[in-house]
Amino acid sequence: MKLSVIGTGYVGLVSGVCFAELGNEVTCVDISREKINLLNDGIVPIYEPGLKELIDRNKELNRLTFTTDLNEAVKQTDVVIIAVGTPSMPNGEANLSYIQKAARQIGEAINGYKVIVTKSTVPVGTNEKVGSIISQYSTYSFDIASVPEFLREGSAVIDTLNPDRIIIGTESERAAAVLWDLHSPLTDQIIITDIRSSEMIKYASNAFLATKISFINEIANICEKVGANVEKVALGMGMDHRIGSAFLKAGIGYGGSCFPKDTQALIQIAGQMDYDFKLLKSVVDVNNDQRFNVIRKLKEILGDLEGCTIGIWGLAFKPETDDVRDAPAFEIISAILELGANVKAYDPIAADNFRNRLDDPRIQYCSSSMEAAHDADALCILTEWEEFKSTPLPDIQTWLKSPNLIDGRNIFQEEELNGTPFVYYSVGRPSMSQGTKAQSPIIA
Ligand code: UDX
Repeated sequence: MKLSVIGTGYVGLVSGVCFAELGNEVTCVDISREKINLLNDGIVPIYEPGLKELIDRNKELNRLTFTTDLNEAVKQTDVVIIAVGTPSMPNGEANLSYIQKAARQIGEAINGYKVIVTKSTVPVGTNEKVGSIISQYSTYSFDIASVPEFLREGSAVIDTLNPDRIIIGTESERAAAVLWDLHSPLTDQIIITDIRSSEMIKYASNAFLATKISFINEIANICEKVGANVEKVALGMGMDHRIGSAFLKAGIGYGGSCFPKDTQALIQIAGQMDYDFKLLKSVVDVNNDQRFNVIRKLKEILGDLEGCTIGIWGLAFKPETDDVRDAPAFEIISAILELGANVKAYDPIAADNFRNRLDDPRIQYCSSSMEAAHDADALCILTEWEEFKSTPLPDIQTWLKSPNLIDGRNIFQEEELNGTPFVYYSVGRPSMSQGTKAQSPIIA
């Protein structure tokens, strides 16, 4: 099949490359000449394991090309996939201007029957608007479909090639057949729905996952008060197949390009229909507060932070990505600076992206984990990179000025800490805290 993919962000680039890997002829389009030049020169603008190898192979096989010429790309393809950004506006609503622009340009370009697929996460009803914009500019027949993307950053290639399910939202049997053929090599879990349900599935899925995270984070906060261990609680809960064990890792809250944006957008979508989505609002509030537990624990250990040096390990919103969008590290570091301390920060790959958004003379960006911990009054772990997990605690102890460790991702285990001098705070595991005494639960 011949496909064009409009937008070479995470979703567009990875989807385009994976469709080429399946044997389709794919043209990836972006308005950024710089991005397209990089991709044509074999440089991948995002960090994503396995992506470069697939790009190189499929370029060589002439199944994958990159261009800024949307018009030509659309003309030569049967399926056009829209994967442009839908960033949040200040009120949380999704900004659809890129989608609308793409729809207009597609309308101007089409020269015969096409299936127009939206992969970007868009509010319910957007695909229909895309359809009406295209028909304003074109007299050729086309069908629209919503095929939401569920890939995770850091495992985007694996996720795209091994999806749990494919949702095809379309009212057209012809489009459904084309898209079934396109996706059937990936999975037999394909569901055809109406367009609006498909658009909703994406928001509902992300909102539910975000809810699981905020739920377990609140359970962790309660565990700290009653002397229970959230990891054991999550293990016990997750064994119930109705609950499932995924997304029950307590920490400093979710970040990234999807959950914060999509939860806000769904609250807005509901609000516009006069529905107050109270549960999701609380999920967002809990998430926004969870990161400040790191600050509360720092204060508990150090008292006044004025003049202290705090080491930070991890700036990306999660491991295996250089993406810092909505990373909890921003607010944590800003709060530390506001309290008068200096920061020494390290991330294996996300430091440059982070510095581009938060450049402050009081933050020293370090080139190794050792440098960031060196002579610090406390070390905070904000991303669970493997590199940090495999660092021996005695090494950290020798680097730090005082052995104060706030593990925001629970990367260390009890056995490793036993007998060490660390003042150690993690999330929802008070028995491991060597700084405070866990309160005993009241037994009647
Ligand atoms: C997410 C969805 O998983 C994906 O389906 C969707 O298409 C885009 O949004 P992504 O943002 O790449 O993907 O990351 P994910 O691995 O889902 O993690 C999101 C955030 O939740 C991270 O900040 C992570 O640290 C946090 N998280 C995740 C937890 O705090 N606990 C968990 O148990 C799982």
